This record gives sequence, C-alpha cells and structure tokens, in this order.
Amino acid sequence: MRAKLSFAPVASSETNLLAVLAADTQAAKGPDAKPQPELLTNDALVQAAAAAVLATGEFKAGANETVLLHAPAGLAAQRLLIVGLGKLAKAATREVRNAAGTAVRFAKPRGIRELVLALPSPDRLPAAAASRAAVEGALIGDLDPDTYRSDRKDQSIQSFTLAVPEAPDRAAVEAAFAEGGIVGESQNFVRSLVNEPGNKLTPTVLGQRAALMAQEVGLQCEVHSTEKLHELKMGAFWSVAQGSAEPPALILLRYEPEGVTNGPVLGLVGKGITFDTGGISIKPADNMERMKYDMAGGAAMLGAMRAVALLKPKVRVIAVICAAENMPSGTAQKPGDVQTAMSGKTIEIINTDAEGRLVLADGLAYARRLGATHLIDAATLTGAVSVALGKVNAGAFSNDDATYARFETALAVSGEKFWRLPLDEEYAELIKSDIADIKNTGGRYGGAITAAEFLHFFAEDTPWIHLDIAGGAWIEESRPYISKGPSGIAMRSVLEWVRSY
Ligand code: BES
Ligand code: MN
Ligand code: ZN
Repeated sequence: MRAKLSFAPVASSETNLLAVLAADTQAAKGPDAKPQPELLTNDALVQAAAAAVLATGEFKAGANETVLLHAPAGLAAQRLLIVGLGKLAKAATREVRNAAGTAVRFAKPRGIRELVLALPSPDRLPAAAASRAAVEGALIGDLDPDTYRSDRKDQSIQSFTLAVPEAPDRAAVEAAFAEGGIVGESQNFVRSLVNEPGNKLTPTVLGQRAALMAQEVGLQCEVHSTEKLHELKMGAFWSVAQGSAEPPALILLRYEPEGVTNGPVLGLVGKGITFDTGGISIKPADNMERMKYDMAGGAAMLGAMRAVALLKPKVRVIAVICAAENMPSGTAQKPGDVQTAMSGKTIEIINTDAEGRLVLADGLAYARRLGATHLIDAATLTGAVSVALGKVNAGAFSNDDATYARFETALAVSGEKFWRLPLDEEYAELIKSDIADIKNTGGRYGGAITAAEFLHFFAEDTPWIHLDIAGGAWIEESRPYISKGPSGIAMRSVLEWVRSY
C-alpha cells in the first residue's frame, strides 16, 4: 500500500472511494437520547451528498459503523463511504486509527484498490495526531494473514490518500504523516513475523530476518547461537533450547545515535519462542498450533527497533531477543532439573512449560551487562494474564514508578491498552525453592504476577517494565479495522516509551 498526503478539496477528487468520518454529537444520556450523527467535514458538497442518508436515522455513527453511497451527487468520487467514530466527546486518535482501518477493510474485499480518506477539520481533531493515526490505521487494516493460501487474492490496497483540510501547519502534518507510515509499517513487520508458522520461522530464520531488517534501516546487529550461550553461561536460556534440534538465536541490536554518548541506555528484551510445545511438561493438543505466536514479544521489540532506527530519537537503545524452540526430546530438560542462569542464580525447574521466564532471565541479565540503565521486556508469558484481565488489556508490571509513568504517557499516544498489576514481596515468596535460589512456577493463583516476580529477580534494581502480552498478541475474530491473527501489540507503546527519553 502506498500512502499519499493531499491538501486538495475532496469534492473534486476522482477516486473510487471517498471515505469521510462521522460522529455522534448527542451529549445527553438516557432512554430518550437519540444518536445525532454528524459528518466531520466542512466541505459543503460532501455534506450535501450525505444529507439524505443521515436524515433517515439508519446510520448512527457508532464506532466503525459504515454506510455506502454509490454515485454521490455533486462529488467526483464514484462512492462515498461514511465511517462512524462513535461519540464525538470520546473520539480521539484511537478512533481515527480504527476508522481508517475500517475504510481500508471495507474497500479490500470489494476489489477497490484505491481510496481517499478525508480527515476531519482541525477544530474537531488535531490535524497532526489524527494524520499519524489515520495512516497507521490504514496500513494495519491492509494486512491479512492468508500468506500461504494458493487462492490468495491480491486484495491489497494499492493507494491510500489522506486528504487533510485547511491545515495551518503543513510541515507538522507532513511529519506526522511520515511518522504514521513508519509506525504502521513497523507494526505490520511485527505481525508478519508473528504470523509465520514454527517450521518456516525457526530461531535461526528469525535471526536472519532481524539481520536483514537491521541492514535495511541501519542498525548494528549480531546474531549468536549455541556457542555464545555457553560462553556467556546462559544456563537458563540454554535449558529451553537444549531440547530442540533447532539451534537457538541470541539476537542483539544496537541503536547509537551520533553524538549521544551519555544519558540512559534503554534495553529492550523480547521472548522469542518460535514454537512452544511446553517441553516435557507438554501442552494439550487443543489450540497448540497457536503457540507459533510465542515469539510475539521478540517480534514487537524488533519492530520497535525498526521504528526507532527510522525515527531517530536522541537516546541509545539496545535490544536482546532470546529465540528458541521449546520441545520435548531426549535432550530436553526435565522437571526437577536445576539450572544456573548467567547471573549465577540457580533455578529449580518445576514445569518446563514456564520457559519464557527462563530465556528472559538471561536476556535481562545480558542487557544489564551490556550497559542498559532501564529495561523493558515484552513476552507472551502466561495464560494467567488473560484470566486476570481478559483480552481487553494486556498486563504491565514495573519496579519503578517514574519509569512506569513514562510508559503511561506512551500509552496515551500509542492507544494500546495495558493495565498495571502489582509486584510484591509476598508474591515473590511463592517462587522460593527448597533446592535452588528460585523455582520457575508459583502455583495457579496470581500466575501472571509470580511470573513477573521471577523476572524481577533477574532485573534486580534496574528500573524495569514487564509487558505480558499473552492475551493481546493474537486476535481471535476479525474486527472492522483489523484482521484476525497477530495484533502487533506492544511495538507502538515501547516505541513511544523510548521516545520519551
Ligand atoms: N507461552 C505460554 C503462555 C501462553 C499461554 C501464551 C496461552 C499465549 C496463550 C507460556 O510459555 C506458558 O506455557 N505459560 C504457562 C506457565 C505455567 C506453566 C506456570 C501457562 O501460562 O500455563
Ligand atoms: Mn510455555
Ligand atoms: Zn511460552
């Protein structure tokens, strides 16, 4: 999809599909409060073309609700699509992002290859932020996961034009538009990686994909394997990798902006389990195929680094992605085994399916050794996080309120939903071992928190954020603005967190 920016009036744009946004301006609540859909445009010709359908009341401007008009009177466009944002009072960048995705996903199955989206006038929504969000949403909406289907239709949108009215600050809108393109493409990069099956995307292949991306955007990249794990004494990471015929990959990316030689070094750490069978503590067969997405945290960090390289914030960033396959075999680790992590701490393995925390233990320790002053990790770590929060919010944890405050600010820009859960010494008690320093599971209750406490033990007192995205990384059912499949969650929020430094 090519994204273009236009400041020309939309009524005269000769497009297959002109999409405009509408919102419900009804402020009152209660049984008598009827929706009042209002078109968010100052263009009188577009208003006139839509007047009749709006008057019927059949379109309520609910979030991602659509109505289509063919041959709209007075417009050069062949079709006029009205996309709802929901309540105007609540409409913000998140709603615009989704509405742009909805417009794209409306066009795709109808064979429409090109569309124009008219942005609301700046008195309704700030032009720069809305422009960025619209491009992101359009790119996100354009991706479908049917990569290996022989009958895969080339449904991709070829050209998406964002029409911005009366922008007083064109430079700011142009910059935001370019930024939205980088962010949306980086998120799709993440989603495409996560979508790959375990046989196609082994740890080695993930390393190759990371190296290729790094070369394209100008990042330093090293990919190591078994030998380096032994050399660094990464006993926790290796304990997961040892059961697989596929060698692990320790992926290291470095972003060092010119002239920045002091200040923080941000360490991004990602879980890159390219397939999680559970190991000897094997998972049930039902839905096990889904476990190809167990590298979504690692992919999110790769995507964030891609965007960092292109947006060039003035802060040093390193990324450590620990990629391995968790397999049962004659060489696999067993429950009861004791492993020595890179930090020297010993771990009793209770359940080989709690493998994400093992690879991350060494990933976090390594990022610290490489000089990270602040850490953030992302991982599809626990089923328990979905029990706690459902699939609406992903889980977040931190040992430092100031660091977490930056993340909260980042969420306001990214529009992603994370909910902070507690860390506490009393939870850490649950993972004390009789034989070793720590054990790798803490029982059924508070499973997402004991997993976070396990990571805390290795992050120690370095300011650190942990993102448990097990519930948010895979979308079960298609939504109007995004396909089912990998969501690409965490990449945007991690990026904004980095940019806050
Ligand atoms: N990758 C899984 C977590 C997961 C579960 C992600 C469902 C996505 C959907 C992780 O490695 C795992 O198996 N966790 C166990 C931990 C348990 C053994 C303490 C879990 O959540 O059951
Ligand atoms: Mn597991
Ligand atoms: Zn896992």
